[in-house]
Amino acid sequence: MPLFLWLTFVLFYSGSAISGQITQAVFSDVQYDALATTQCLAEPGRTMYGGGVIVNPEFSNGTAGWAVFGKGVIEGRVSHSKNRFMVARNRKRPMDSVSQKVRLEKGKFYAFSAWIQVNEGSETVSVVFRVGDGEFAPGGSIVAEQGCWSLLKGGVAANSSSTVDVLFKSKNTSKEIWVDNVALQPFSKKQWRFHQDKSIEKVRKSRVRFQITYAKKRGLAVRGAKFLVKQTKPGFPFGCGMNFHILESTDYQNWFASRFRYTTFTNAMKWYSTEAKQGQENYTTADAMVKFSQDNGISIRGHNVFWDDPKYQPDWVKTLSPEDLRKAAEKRINSVVSRYAGKLIAWDVVNENLHFSFFEDNLGKNASSIYYSTAYKLDPTPRMFLNEYNTIEYCGDEKVSPGNYKKRLKEIFSYPGNEDILAGIGVQGNFGRGQPNLAYMRSTLEILATTGVPIWLTELSVHPGVNQAQYLEEILREAFSHPAVEGIIMFAGPAYAGFNVTALADISFNNTPAGDIVDNLIEEWKSPDFEAHTNDGGFFSTSLFHGEYEITITNPATNCSSTSRFEVTRDSSGRTFHFQIG
Ligand SMILES: *[C@@H]1O[C@H](CO)[C@@H](O)[C@H](O)[C@H]1NC(C)=O
Ligand SMILES: *[C@@H]1O[C@H](CO)[C@@H](O)[C@H](O)[C@H]1NC(C)=O
Ligand SMILES: *[C@@H]1O[C@H](CO)[C@@H](O)[C@H](O)[C@H]1NC(C)=O
Ligand SMILES: *[C@@H]1O[C@H](CO)[C@@H](O)[C@H](O)[C@H]1NC(C)=O
Ligand SMILES: *[C@@H]1O[C@H](CO)[C@@H](O)[C@H](O)[C@H]1NC(C)=O
Ligand SMILES: *[C@@H]1O[C@H](CO)[C@@H](O)[C@H](O)[C@H]1NC(C)=O
Ligand SMILES: *[C@@H]1O[C@H](CO)[C@@H](O)[C@H](O)[C@H]1NC(C)=O
Repeated sequence: MPLFLWLTFVLFYSGSAISGQITQAVFSDVQYDALATTQCLAEPGRTMYGGGVIVNPEFSNGTAGWAVFGKGVIEGRVSHSKNRFMVARNRKRPMDSVSQKVRLEKGKFYAFSAWIQVNEGSETVSVVFRVGDGEFAPGGSIVAEQGCWSLLKGGVAANSSSTVDVLFKSKNTSKEIWVDNVALQPFSKKQWRFHQDKSIEKVRKSRVRFQITYAKKRGLAVRGAKFLVKQTKPGFPFGCGMNFHILESTDYQNWFASRFRYTTFTNAMKWYSTEAKQGQENYTTADAMVKFSQDNGISIRGHNVFWDDPKYQPDWVKTLSPEDLRKAAEKRINSVVSRYAGKLIAWDVVNENLHFSFFEDNLGKNASSIYYSTAYKLDPTPRMFLNEYNTIEYCGDEKVSPGNYKKRLKEIFSYPGNEDILAGIGVQGNFGRGQPNLAYMRSTLEILATTGVPIWLTELSVHPGVNQAQYLEEILREAFSHPAVEGIIMFAGPAYAGFNVTALADISFNNTPAGDIVDNLIEEWKSPDFEAHTNDGGFFSTSLFHGEYEITITNPATNCSSTSRFEVTRDSSGRTFHFQIG
């Protein structure tokens, strides 16, 4: 490398106070995952980050650095292609496995990955971090299979500086857990944020060029033309839930409409709201909220046609015979989907159907698949979503692990006739009061992203606590920076309307700290208005957030102005927008 290039490189990285090596590792890792996480492989994939803080991550040095956790036996084995890996067998309890002690530093995120196999059938295997005092913090899980290696990805957020045991868990102790190419890579919050910002620049903005020419002079460039650019609408859907209180308060209406262009009604469209008594449908509230939204240019995600949790059926539904339930449900789906056909951008068709199975238990195991099919026939335009909690926010809930989510998604959308439906992955994001585990959230989004199906955070909230606003900001940045996330709806709002978990405004509509975060991000994720001049060739280039824009160009000869509109999208990168003046 010529000396001057080398110097630039060194200066750039030493100036940013962030290790260039680690930053690059994150980028290549993301691309790599897209391929690797989709399959179960004959040989384990590579070790990420060279193993990070893990000693002997590839077992090339026998069992050095590793120990038995609990009871059982660990042994190194060699595959016929000479790959060395580790086996835990003769296990007595779920957490009996191979383990290594590592030191976690408070405030850092640790990205975890390992390649896992079991000796028979298939089995959920999790990684667990045992903190000194005996607390077990889950870090992610995978359904491992016999005969091929699956990538277990996850992570942990270190609440305190302490030594932890990294170990593996599976309920069925008769199965051997096979492990290879383990990695645990620490990132400071600063490094994490640096990566988010880089990614936002790449996935939410496009570099574009303007060229201004004279219409009457055969495309002659207008040198030094003055123009003003204003972003009129954001390209990324960042919205907020709303409830019936919006109909009774102009303060709430103004609060909402001045900020958001996307919404989900928290309860107003649910079956228990529109048909509380059998046969007496009442859409008064939902209709009025749809009208308010339409009048204010707010797009609506429909929520929900059915909810698979037995607790949240209308009371009269809970006691129906399967045959009567089938009829009542048929009437419900026809009624609500037809009523709002053409008015919604999405439907949560059968809410929470990984956690629950009310309709499957009563009507057969294809019940959800059939309702997605029916909804699509009644209104083919909205994206049809699965919608679950705990998938990104709690790694201890194996039912909704990203692997199981992908499996359910595939079941529903490969059901005969469902292949053409626009599918959506809804992850609710009901975060608790502790430090959100962004390492786990990112690894989950990466795994879900391998489906190619758009991901939305559909009900984002953060429990009250001293750091609520900070945690909300961290989660919002993480979601916005991920290329597969195509929308965020918060279940939050003004205290006036009862949004007490994540209140964005107090009872007098003054911002809470969380509300300030939201307003600041709305502003930050929008290109600021700017004025500029074309160069001698009539050109100007810049990088702009995706969205709709207005450009007002002043003719230097006459001082007359004219305004045009244009839209910047993901596909606009490198594009030149041509404008002509008189
Ligand atoms: C292998 O592990 C032993 C300890 O068990 C250690 O002394 C040795 O340096 C290690 N060798 C390599 C190449 O890491
Ligand atoms: C546990 O695994 C063993 C070995 O693969 C298998 O024979 C057994 O059926 C499994 N038990 C359960 C409850 O799944
Ligand atoms: C329908 O709901 C609205 C709003 O809650 C209520 O005012 C109205 O009385 C209801 N209509 C009937 C027929 O129950
Ligand atoms: C569910 O659907 C699949 C695919 O069409 C079919 O093979 C299976 O028999 C159905 N199962 C039930 C219980 O209806
Ligand atoms: C971090 O704190 C949260 C809640 O405060 C807790 O659930 C989690 O187990 C802790 N994680 C670790 C690794 O200590
Ligand atoms: C929110 O708090 C207010 C005031 O304390 C209370 O009246 C209201 O019932 C609460 N709403 C919910 C949904 O908990
Ligand atoms: C255009 O406006 C500028 C500044 O307001 C002024 O200096 C200039 O003379 C004007 N040109 C014409 C052609 O009116």
